[in-house]
Amino acid sequence: MNPRTLTEDKVDNYRWQLGQLELVPIVIGGMGVDISTTALALTACRLGGVGHISDAMVQHVSDRKYNTHFTKAKSETHRATRDQIDKSTVKFNLDHLYQAQLNHVRYTMDRKQGPGAIFINVMEKLTMGAPGDTLQARLRGALDGGIDGITLSAGLHIGSLKLIADHPRFRDVKIGPIVSSVRALKIFLKGAVRLNRLPDYVVVEGPLAGGHLGFGEDWRDYDLHTIVAEVLAFLREENLPIPVLAAGGIFTGTDAASFLRMGAAGVQVATRFTITEECGLPARVKQDYARAREEDLVVSNVSPTGYPIRMLSYSPALGSNIKPQCEAFGYLLDRDGHCAYLDAYDATPVDENGRKLPVQDKVCLCYHFSKFNCYTCGQYAYRLKDTTHRLADGSYQILTASHVFSDYQFSTSHRVALPASQEPPVAAVVNA
Ligand SMILES: Cc1cc2nc3c(=O)[nH]c(=O)nc-3n(C[C@H](O)[C@H](O)[C@H](O)COP(=O)(O)O)c2cc1C
Repeated sequence: MNPRTLTEDKVDNYRWQLGQLELVPIVIGGMGVDISTTALALTACRLGGVGHISDAMVQHVSDRKYNTHFTKAKSETHRATRDQIDKSTVKFNLDHLYQAQLNHVRYTMDRKQGPGAIFINVMEKLTMGAPGDTLQARLRGALDGGIDGITLSAGLHIGSLKLIADHPRFRDVKIGPIVSSVRALKIFLKGAVRLNRLPDYVVVEGPLAGGHLGFGEDWRDYDLHTIVAEVLAFLREENLPIPVLAAGGIFTGTDAASFLRMGAAGVQVATRFTITEECGLPARVKQDYARAREEDLVVSNVSPTGYPIRMLSYSPALGSNIKPQCEAFGYLLDRDGHCAYLDAYDATPVDENGRKLPVQDKVCLCYHFSKFNCYTCGQYAYRLKDTTHRLADGSYQILTASHVFSDYQFSTSHRVALPASQEPPVAAVVNA
């Protein structure tokens, strides 16, 4: 193609054939905790793409949305350790966890309409005091709830497939890992080959993505096009026809088309949907995302998971001194009841009034994600303001998910379509 044709290329020129489904190759990525809501996933599905819900802190999400009381029950069961740093006795009730997952997936799948699909994002790093058992409960809840696909993220997922190998839907549900290198993909494939169950897709996430990153401090040395090319070459050499979805920093339809042209089956995108009506962030937080400037973006080591996380520097979570909430939450406790925030909190001194000083090294992700205080986002969040209108009161107009989805699907030449303005033209205001 000549350069002009390249910029005229668009996502709508491509389709992703996934089993019987012919999909618009746009996947809205999972965003915990319930930032990628049922409503957001349903929109992608209705428009012929793929939407994700997330199972991050699913008991808390179930309580908020489906009137259950799993968090309170857990908190009461474990009240004895509230004032201790040793949380080794804090465990999840696996039946409750399974039920919470089932509730969330069923609620979503019961409302599914249209030609697309709905997947769930399942993070391995949510070790929840008993990594294998809690992951298995979440995976089974998702399968029994009728989910179309499971995206395995935040971890290498070496043993995850084995946890559901005896499930009747093991070979019919779509499964795909998120990787950031050929090396990580090879590790996942080893386990998959042993079970004769290859993934149905692989998401290749580069260094500009939101959420936790599969890169260290040197994330700037990597580039998504290069990693996608390496993964495509590896799969070709190995004769493995596994579709590749490119993710991280794909901001325009033209960016997306560039990956489809090089052989990716689709793209996974997220940040642009954070300022849509369907996104689960509170209205004030959507405004905080929309106003981001480039200098506000940081890649930080404050996550107790050990992975770097990209966020806005004015996230309220940073420098908080919140007491650990493991009895109620505890989603990041390892099998010994340990979480890096517990250590950081314990090591932080108190002031002369006995008040804990701000904890600098780590944040309590459970508490702060439950309150939407941790503003994780992709590197191009600072371009969000260019995708909408600034209103007379200084706030930004919130978009609809279908507007953003269609812009990805149909736009060319790196254009970003602005929505119809929700404010009357100035003249009309004067006459009113
Ligand atoms: C607010 C937000 C929350 C996210 N949460 C998760 C998550 O819980 N699990 C996960 O695997 N990826 C998460 N991601 C990553 C996205 O699913 C997606 O792969 C990535 O952000 C795509 O890059 P983009 O945001 O530049 O489009 C999150 C991204 C954002 C913006």
